Amino acid sequence: MTILSNGHQWKYSEFIDNKNYNFDKDQILTSISKEDIDDAYNTISKWEGYKTTPLITLNKLSKELNLKNIFYKDEDKRFDLKSFKALGGAYAVEKVTKGNKDIVVATATAGNHGRSVAWGARRLGLKCKIFISEFVSDARGQAMADLGADVVKVKGNYEKSLIECIKQSTENNWQIVQDVAWKDYMQVPKYTMAGYSVMMREIIDQINNEKITHIILQAGVGGMAGAMVAGIARYLNNVPVTLVVEPDSAACVLESIKTGKIEKIDIKRESLMGGMSCGEVSLVPWEILKNSVKHCISLPDDDIAKTMKLLGNSSFSDEKIIAGENSAPGVISLIASCEDQKTKQTLKLDQNSNVLVIGCEGDTDKEMYQKLINQN
Ligand SMILES: Cc1ncc(COP(=O)(O)O)c(C=O)c1O
Repeated sequence: MTILSNGHQWKYSEFIDNKNYNFDKDQILTSISKEDIDDAYNTISKWEGYKTTPLITLNKLSKELNLKNIFYKDEDKRFDLKSFKALGGAYAVEKVTKGNKDIVVATATAGNHGRSVAWGARRLGLKCKIFISEFVSDARGQAMADLGADVVKVKGNYEKSLIECIKQSTENNWQIVQDVAWKDYMQVPKYTMAGYSVMMREIIDQINNEKITHIILQAGVGGMAGAMVAGIARYLNNVPVTLVVEPDSAACVLESIKTGKIEKIDIKRESLMGGMSCGEVSLVPWEILKNSVKHCISLPDDDIAKTMKLLGNSSFSDEKIIAGENSAPGVISLIASCEDQKTKQTLKLDQNSNVLVIGCEGDTDKEMYQKLINQN
């Protein structure tokens, strides 16, 4: 052990098995259908500037951990938005507006989803209203304004910005394009998830004849994780071991998997993993995740900056990877699981394992990125 040890211990907070685990591909595809998944790929792959994002082999890390391969899907290269979120919101805008140029789209966001909606609206020449909470950084707000959106700052947290978005959209007849589902609002979040599943379509073409044995999925409200599980059901012949990772301050999927029903978390401290700091799993992802996630793991913020730096200075791979705060947890949970013999065995991680981790974003907040990689 050279890169990993140096007296450093990689930590996770909690690891659980799902006692209701039952990966049923047909059941999963009742939540997001094969047709929805195929339509998303057929549409998005025709957009101007579309390119498959790289699948990078973390060859130095897999050697240290004695695994066959670690594949890192590098969403830093997704259009010019630097995050998988570009696939969801923008696709939903296209589906919802169906070529009608008079529709105004609106959304509430912590940053990346709104950027995708604003970008999708600009692509189609539509007006766009974005609601952000007072805690969203000015840099993130500006990025959406630069895409032509009208950005409205709301006092209070994300929930308050969503309430304001719904209120003003109802009054003005704007079309809400939200990535979170609630009762009677399921179709648009399904579109965003179908958009995210494009990542899995690309991955099957990139792994040649290798078989993915494990997949580690970050979760906020669970949209990305649910979409990738739907992608497994649609595209893979085998069923990899599925592990969902969350911040320990906002482990809403883990807590819900424990009890078998949606549990709301009262977030006491915002995690550095900002996009994943969500208190409640969304309805559509929950229907998918409740039986198809095999294990859940939660992490403190401690190793985020260090991991971003190691990815950035090519300690884990031949190339340098720009990985944001929400990209690091996949790698951290893999290292921490391998360093705990019992967890490693439970996950069946060994020299035959091909592990897929999702590098969901690059330096979407440049200032924060620089601050973190220069920290230690
Ligand atoms: C930037 C960003 N936002 C949000 C999320 C969470 O996605 P979701 O809320 O769909 O679970 C992630 C990754 O998990 C992310 O990288």
